Amino acid sequence: MKRLGVLLSGRGSNFVAIADNIAQGRLTGCEIAVVISNKADAAGLTAARARGLKAVAIEARGRQRAEHDAEIIATLKEHGVELVILAGYMRLLSPEFVAVFRDRILNIHPSLLPAFPGLDAQEQALNYGVQVAGCTVHFVDAELDHGVIVLQKAVAVHENDDAHALAERILEQEHVAYSEGIARVVSGEYRVVGRRYVKG
Ligand code: GRF
Repeated sequence: MKRLGVLLSGRGSNFVAIADNIAQGRLTGCEIAVVISNKADAAGLTAARARGLKAVAIEARGRQRAEHDAEIIATLKEHGVELVILAGYMRLLSPEFVAVFRDRILNIHPSLLPAFPGLDAQEQALNYGVQVAGCTVHFVDAELDHGVIVLQKAVAVHENDDAHALAERILEQEHVAYSEGIARVVSGEYRVVGRRYVKG
């Protein structure tokens, strides 16, 4: 059973989708050991507690990144976490954090990377005029939204879409994609070859 540690900052709908998939047997081979937020009032923490999961707030305010990250790393280790799941975690990880959990941190980003990294990816996609948008589950490395791609899902852009409507449709796919991506990683059947994540 792989032990997951979830990091989130807000709403936590991706976390909820993963937790529900695990609880209902659609995502197997892993369990959520702890949910950590840098915001004490994150809705995701309330959702975690409602599901009987360990939920911890580690506020970042007024602290150096390295010091804050060290406390998160300690909490993840304390709970035996083997795979870190970033689910709307709105802080950059320190290089130390990435090094400690090298190849063991996943993120989901609401675009088809390498297009539109960073904030407001859905709006960036609309403004650019792409007709196919989507989401990407990827490993986290030292560069923003850059690590090896585990899985992507495409979403059509509609002519009357605004950023909100597009984000909603992408989010529906995120809720499916993240669990499928985690399943790939947990299965142990995939490996990284160059930048590709391949079976066998
Ligand atoms: C999602 O759009 C995700 O792709 C991005 O942040 C958002 C988090 O939403 N990284 P939620 O907190 O999981 O509802």
